[in-house]
Amino acid sequence: MEALPRLPFATRIVKEGLAELVVPETGEAQATTRLPAFYNPLSKASRDLAVMVTWAYFSERNCGSAAEPLAGTGARIIRLLLESGVVSEGIAGDISEWAVRLIEINIERNGLAGRLRVKRSDANLLLSELAVSGRAGYVDIDPFGSPVRFLENGFRATERQGLLGSSATDLAALSGSSRRTAYWKYGLTLVRTNFYRETAIRALAGVAVMTASRLSLGAEPVFSAAYRHFVRVFLKVDRGKSKAYQTRLQVRYLIHCKACLNTSVIGEAQEWRERCSVCGGPNTLLGPLWIGRLADKNLVEKILNSRFASDPNYAEAVKIVRAVAEEPEDVPWSFQLAEVSRRARTSPPKVMQVIDRLREMGYRAAPTHYDRAAIKTDAPSDILTKIVKELAHN
Ligand SMILES: C[S@@+](CC[C@H](N)C(=O)[O-])C[C@H]1O[C@@H](n2cnc3c(N)ncnc32)[C@H](O)[C@@H]1O
Ligand SMILES: [Zn+2]
Repeated sequence: MEALPRLPFATRIVKEGLAELVVPETGEAQATTRLPAFYNPLSKASRDLAVMVTWAYFSERNCGSAAEPLAGTGARIIRLLLESGVVSEGIAGDISEWAVRLIEINIERNGLAGRLRVKRSDANLLLSELAVSGRAGYVDIDPFGSPVRFLENGFRATERQGLLGSSATDLAALSGSSRRTAYWKYGLTLVRTNFYRETAIRALAGVAVMTASRLSLGAEPVFSAAYRHFVRVFLKVDRGKSKAYQTRLQVRYLIHCKACLNTSVIGEAQEWRERCSVCGGPNTLLGPLWIGRLADKNLVEKILNSRFASDPNYAEAVKIVRAVAEEPEDVPWSFQLAEVSRRARTSPPKVMQVIDRLREMGYRAAPTHYDRAAIKTDAPSDILTKIVKELAHN
């Protein structure tokens, strides 16, 4: 067996996708931010998605270079180079000395010397340098917590017609559980609803689109999802004021009634109505949020018809893509069946029974990718409540 490199902390070798990586030894403990360099095996699906989405987005024309300014042990960008087949070269950065050392070791170990460079740098500095010296086709921002302070330079560093991928793990703020943080960090008015994970995706996408539009860039999600501890959005970047305006117009507000769960889209906050149009209960306001499509249908189809779809290595991420593909694409909220049932004072029926009934009635409906016991449908909440009551009495 090949000897592990001499470092002042214990390491181990992990295999992920086609990469073989030297990472810090965590023992029984989970990956924490206190480690000398950060590798989280639970984020594998996030890296799988990055490989598949990058491949699908760039398969007709090579991506050229990729940049990962918060690279940890290099797992993500190394896998992009080894597995996507569309990334020729890359640059990895990290502020941590030990992360950079491990990235160097992992570049050698995976035969990527000459194709992947590494630099110890603050992410914003690295991205600014790229913005000036040569942009990357794909930029991936994968920080601890919030990406918000890296997004602007992320867009500056992304080629026009390129792709920017970003994760966030500060779900309490983005989903409306920490309303104060949502407000001061993101400028969002949020409240926790029964579709809080949908809110988190759309909050991140909305903030990204507004950041791009300030730079006269259009940004449009081509794939987004919430899974485990993270939300992730991949945005196509377009040049021009009219693209910026068109995409910015899809960042709007929701009004949501906590009494009957009725939700609707409004353009601007001032269109807000205090009382629910269905039950007269008090409305709450959420936004601004991205209310356009979470995913591009063609890109999703491409992934589902690709070599990835039948490769067990990608099974977890392919499942997410498949579930996103089934969701009605123009409904920016969902209903937790347990919550609808609780309000209707009945026990929850089976999810598929409710979905079949909705479809029989001509509505579109599917379980959500982030919660198989939640339903995304264009049916109004009172119809859903009626079905839940009917099915409970059968
Ligand atoms: C979540 S980890 C990255 C994991 C990696 N992207 C992956 O998929 O395995 C975040 C990384 O950002 C680094 N970091 C934190 N602040 C930074 C900054 N201002 N500039 C550059 N790197 C930073 C940390 O050292 C850490 O390695
Ligand atoms: Zn209501």
